[in-house]
Amino acid sequence: MLVTTLNTTEYLMLQSQNTSLVLELPVGEAPIWRYWGPKVRDKAPHALRASRPLPSFMLDFDHPLTLAPGFGVGWFGQSALLAHRNGQSFAQAFTQCVVQWEQPERSVRVVLTDPVSAIELTVHMSMDYPSDVLTMKSSLRNVGDTVLDVQWLAAGTLLLPAQAQSVRSYAGQHNHEFLLQTDKLSRSLWRRESRRGRTSHDCFPGAVVTTDGSTECAGLVYGAHLAWSGNHQQTIEWLHDAQYQWQMGEWLAPGEGLLAAGATLNTPELVASCSTQGLSGLAANFHAELRSRLNWPGGQMRPRPVHLNTWEGFYFDVYPEKVKELATAAAAVGVERFVLDDGWFHGRHHDRAALGDWWPDESKFPQGLGDLVAHVNALGMEFGLWFEPEMINPDSDLYREHPDWALQLAGRPLITARNQLVLDISRPEVSEYLFGKIDALLSVQPIRYIKWDHNRDLTTTGLHDGTAGYRAQVHAAYALFARIRAVHPEVEIESCSGGGGRIDFGVLRYTHRVWTSDCIDAMSRVDIQRGFLQFFPPEIMGAHVGSACAHTTGRTQSMAFRAAVALPGHLGVELDARILREADAAELKAWIQMYKDLRERLHHGHVWQGAIDDGIVWQAHGDLDDAGVASDVLLLVYRTQPTNHRYTPRLPLPMLYTQAEYRIRQCVPAGTVLPTGAHNTAPFFDALNSAEGLLLDGGWLRHAGLPLPRAQAETAFIVRLTRV
Ligand code: DGJ
Repeated sequence: MLVTTLNTTEYLMLQSQNTSLVLELPVGEAPIWRYWGPKVRDKAPHALRASRPLPSFMLDFDHPLTLAPGFGVGWFGQSALLAHRNGQSFAQAFTQCVVQWEQPERSVRVVLTDPVSAIELTVHMSMDYPSDVLTMKSSLRNVGDTVLDVQWLAAGTLLLPAQAQSVRSYAGQHNHEFLLQTDKLSRSLWRRESRRGRTSHDCFPGAVVTTDGSTECAGLVYGAHLAWSGNHQQTIEWLHDAQYQWQMGEWLAPGEGLLAAGATLNTPELVASCSTQGLSGLAANFHAELRSRLNWPGGQMRPRPVHLNTWEGFYFDVYPEKVKELATAAAAVGVERFVLDDGWFHGRHHDRAALGDWWPDESKFPQGLGDLVAHVNALGMEFGLWFEPEMINPDSDLYREHPDWALQLAGRPLITARNQLVLDISRPEVSEYLFGKIDALLSVQPIRYIKWDHNRDLTTTGLHDGTAGYRAQVHAAYALFARIRAVHPEVEIESCSGGGGRIDFGVLRYTHRVWTSDCIDAMSRVDIQRGFLQFFPPEIMGAHVGSACAHTTGRTQSMAFRAAVALPGHLGVELDARILREADAAELKAWIQMYKDLRERLHHGHVWQGAIDDGIVWQAHGDLDDAGVASDVLLLVYRTQPTNHRYTPRLPLPMLYTQAEYRIRQCVPAGTVLPTGAHNTAPFFDALNSAEGLLLDGGWLRHAGLPLPRAQAETAFIVRLTRV
């Protein structure tokens, strides 16, 4: 038996600006998890086993949670690995550990070996100093001489403290992504997974764990996300010392983890963080991390151009004259990028045919797209084009020629969804075909933007050899994205999947915007966007002003509310701008101008979010100086329900500095009427709307709160606070 003494143990410590991670390194074992949380200055002061007496009727040797818990050799909880060799070698325990530092205290590879089951697991961990984001990924190498069947390999195993109380994860469906689900943690296993072959609307691969007393802007919270666009699984399990372990990884279909002798299985990345600044502090960490990863054309983000997308305006009815008229109307209200959505390619007049035939429809565009693109460019707008490369309709030339290119299983019927099948893009000839078709268009036209859609879950996901192809499909999609980006580096890509079915840090290695939801109803969007912003920054959040009434819900909201809800994201317009009443067009134009004036403020820095239990939801975008003090804040307050109070409750602003004064001015699109939707005003609000605004004390605003106007439901109130 191994003997532990009080302080002869080695430790591994990662540090970031505000957090620390500590692992204990006992000889002949995998590292033991000791700590992940707010910064501690030093390693653990004592070995774990030296500080916890053995309980009764347990194994005679203590087996705490390790970085890579194995199955069958003393650990009874969820293991980081499930594997066997034709029924043998079903138990794993790592008995050799080599620590390879890439950067002291920041980045390390822990190489673990189990000579008995002939495997080598490398866990890579790196801590980003400024963002406090921990990235983990694992690689399992089969060093034996027979096939290893891996059924589960966690990208990482994390330790959560005993104060962990609830887990906020996201469920949903088409038209309602990021539907918050809060579960209380208990001794029951918490598990969420998706087997739909894409990130999914139903189960976002990530969650937030809150601790006792944590709020939107204060208290200790933890978050983790799997950077992966395929099947996934996450588990939180109570441990016998009252702490929890949190595992996340790819859900492997049977056979997907078969590792030949010498082969390696690499997991996706697990991106995790913790913050003592509540949900908003955690969001800021994820935003900073993603911002550092986004691969912009030219190396940095340009101000996010206002879009017009043709989908809800025209659906499949994209005849060039109409589309040109729409482009003209779009340019007149200030649109900067015109995106031709579905319906432009060979035979595509409805959703029952044509996916796969990626050349312009001869009846709509007999001379190709050149004339339309030139018209759009002449109006001063960029041109963007919709594709859904991974899909094929049975009614298409491509399918008639290559029915075997669709993912399928021998002996099983093909299962269509939205009348379409999924192409096996892991076949080189299939991805070559798709690359060729997209490249042909991008090479001859100045197309600067692709909206890349993916409108169904995967079923009968069989590769040509009959094995499961979920994993191969995701890797092949990433490779196709990468190839197009390499050949057309000036092109930005939007990730769409029936709205927000493919939003994750994995696809965002290749893309620059996501289509958050097919639901453009501003009321629905308030919640969807709140969930989205927990992990993703506003500048990549496709947010459109749709028509009234909203196509997906039948609800009608004012132009001001629709625009105010879309404003903080990457703004777009998705309606038939040709038929807008003059007053509506003028109002839309004014909001677009306000977006242009504010986008620099909106698309950098922190986002804080909160709610008041009177139908009010707010978000604030601002900078923090080195002392953690907010200097320039744009505050958007949405009233979603009528007030329950005679006098509207005030809004405390927790990001403000108590020792400073702030000048506050209301932001109103030029020429529009104020106060938007208010019944009555008061001198305070008249002053806010004056050129000088009002000078108010940060401490007062932080603790006593900002007065809010008395407003109708479905209205917004926007102010800018500048530290003086
Ligand atoms: C689903 C997308 O989410 C929509 O925006 C639109 O592009 C349609 N597909 C087109 O078929």
